[in-house]
Parts: sequence; C-alpha cells; structure tokens
Amino acid sequence: MIEETFKRIFGASPEVMVRAPGRVNLIGEHTDYNDGFVLPAAIDRFVEFAGRRRADRTIRVHSTDFQDCAEFNLDSINKDSEHRWSNYLRGVSKFLEADGHRLSGAEIVFGGNVPRESGLSSSAAVEVGATAFWQRLAGLQLDAVYAAKLSRRAENDFVGVPCGIMDQFISALGKKDHALFLDCRDLSYRHVPLRDDVKIVVCNSGVKRSLAQTEYEVRLKQCRESVSKLREKGLWANSLRDVTSADLDSGREVLSDILLRRARHVVTENERTREAVNVLESGTIERFGELMNASHVSLRDDYEVSCKELDTLVELAWKQPGMLGARMTGAGFGGCTVNLVRAKAAEAFARAVAEGYQKALGLKADTYVCQATDGAFVT
Ligand code: GLA
Repeated sequence: MIEETFKRIFGASPEVMVRAPGRVNLIGEHTDYNDGFVLPAAIDRFVEFAGRRRADRTIRVHSTDFQDCAEFNLDSINKDSEHRWSNYLRGVSKFLEADGHRLSGAEIVFGGNVPRESGLSSSAAVEVGATAFWQRLAGLQLDAVYAAKLSRRAENDFVGVPCGIMDQFISALGKKDHALFLDCRDLSYRHVPLRDDVKIVVCNSGVKRSLAQTEYEVRLKQCRESVSKLREKGLWANSLRDVTSADLDSGREVLSDILLRRARHVVTENERTREAVNVLESGTIERFGELMNASHVSLRDDYEVSCKELDTLVELAWKQPGMLGARMTGAGFGGCTVNLVRAKAAEAFARAVAEGYQKALGLKADTYVCQATDGAFVT
C-alpha cells in the first residue's frame, strides 16, 4: 500500500522499503528511565517507509496517516511546528548527519497501522523506521544498539519528549516469538521465548493520552527527588535501580508519602520484572500472570498513572476464562492494556472484554491478538 502511494505521489517505484514494529511491554513499566529492567515484545503492527534518492539535499516526505506533505533540506534541519509528524524523521536525519553519516536528498512516503497515541510506541516505530530507512538508502553500517540510541536521541533532544530507551530498543531489536529482557543501565539484553500456547492480546481503551507527557515528566522528577533524599540519608544510589525494598523501609522518614509510593512502584516493579523473566524461562506461566496483575495494581495505586478506562479493561480481563495476567502497558493515562491469555481462549477473551467495556462505559475498545515479531534491525 505504501508502495502504491509512493508511485502515485512521486511517479516512480521506490528504491528502498523498510518497516519498524510497534511494541507492547509485558512488564517493567516506568522503570527504563530509572536504569531498571523491562520486558517488551515487538508486535506485528508496523510503520513502513518507502523512498528513493534525489541528486540534491532536499527531502520531500509524505505521511499516509496524516495525508500531508513536508519538505526540508538536510543542511538546515529544524523542528516544524506545522508538520509535526515530520519531526521524528527530521531528528533522526539531523543526528545521523551530526554523527558523520552522509545522507542524500530523498523522496519518502511513510505510515502504517500502529495506533497513534495509544501506548504502542508509534513514534518509536517512526524513529527506528527512519533510521533503518537511512541505513538502506545511504548504505550505512549501523549497529542495532546505536540505531536504538540514535532514535531515542531524536525523541529526547529534537522532538523534546523525555522518554526512556525501551521503545526504540525493542522496535530495533525485537525478535519473532520472543520478548526482550533489557537492562536499561548497561543495555545488556537477552531474548526470551514466548510459549505458543499463550497469546498476547492488546485492548485499546481509545483514550488518547492527553495527560501523559506532563505527568510523565512529573514522575521522572519524583523518582530523581526520591533518590536524592535517600542519598541525603546516607544511602548509596545513583538511581532507583540501586534501591531495595529494605532501603525504602529504612528511608521512610526522609520521603514524603507520595515520593515513597512512587519509589516503591519502581523498586517493586524491578523485582517483579526480574522474577518474571526467570519464570518465563523456567517457571510457571501462572506466576508470570500474577506478576503482571501486581504490576497493574502498583501502577494504579502507587504510581498513579492508570485511569478509569484502563482499570475497567483490566478488571474485565481478570474475570475472563483463560486469562493469565492483565495490566496497563506504556506510559498510562489512556492507551492500551496488555493481556496474557491461553491461546484457545484468546479470541473469545478479546470479544468479551470489548463487550464488557461497551456495557460498562459505553466506549469502543479495539482489540488485537498479537504476534511477537522481529525488530527493524534484526535480519
Ligand atoms: C513510554 C516511554 C518509555 C517508558 C514507558 C513507561 O512508553 O516512551 O520509555 O518509560 O512510557 O514504561
């Protein structure tokens, strides 16, 4: 479809086609920017890029999602407030050139089926897709971890969203039928096989995450503040990653109630994520599901990033046959839930949750039974 659009708009076939997936996070939420652990999987929803070289330094780009065109020059890349959808590509292009990679002008079409503003990392898929696109079109030799870091830089330092590394990392390095366990401090990782008798079902609350960015920044500051308070008390810690539940108990008096709860979420979520990867590798899937459920409760009560719609979807999920675990996924304040469901029950589960959601709140929930898939830099 992207190819057809390209032909229609630019009157020729594209030289290069690449795609990058969205992601769902199984467990390890709001831990990445605390140097912690995450366990996402890339999903079979993609942002695709098609393009061909031009002889000059001009980029002409069309978004199929926004039905809009933009143009810029590689020698003076600035943020565009009118075509905001183009800023991810601009940021990636700018930082690649700043790192010494020589790009050429290009005609580009991109778009896909990762729902936007839904907590499935459509923006990371655009950034990683753009990086993969340049790798192919300009013949660059890019290491996959470098590609993830560069894509994140585009989001942090060009677009101006202070996210962690998880989303770009999984979109670049995901693996078919596997989740990815990542240590966000040193970026060491391993792929963990998912069982074929369980399915990942995503339920989209349909609520756009309007509060997400400001509240995300507030959480980030609260995490840093709790670390500096604990350090004043004499605890050695560079980030919440270094803090244990026992440290929190002994540091109680220096933390306000709110800081204690924020820190407790991160500390216990790291514990849950480490246990989750162990049980996925050599334990029972039921225990994995319990850890997902506990993660939701912690995000809801201690971290306070859930909302009525997400809680409703999760509570409906918890009642369904074949459900192993259910929680909100991504930054929160809307977006999606992730559910681990026995394969045989997956379709009925998705229908029942959507029906229940309609009944309870009068809202429509899209549901996707997902397949874990390869990242853009995995060949
Ligand atoms: C967003 C950010 C990620 C991560 C999650 C919460 O998706 O982009 O870096 O912090 O929220 O786990």
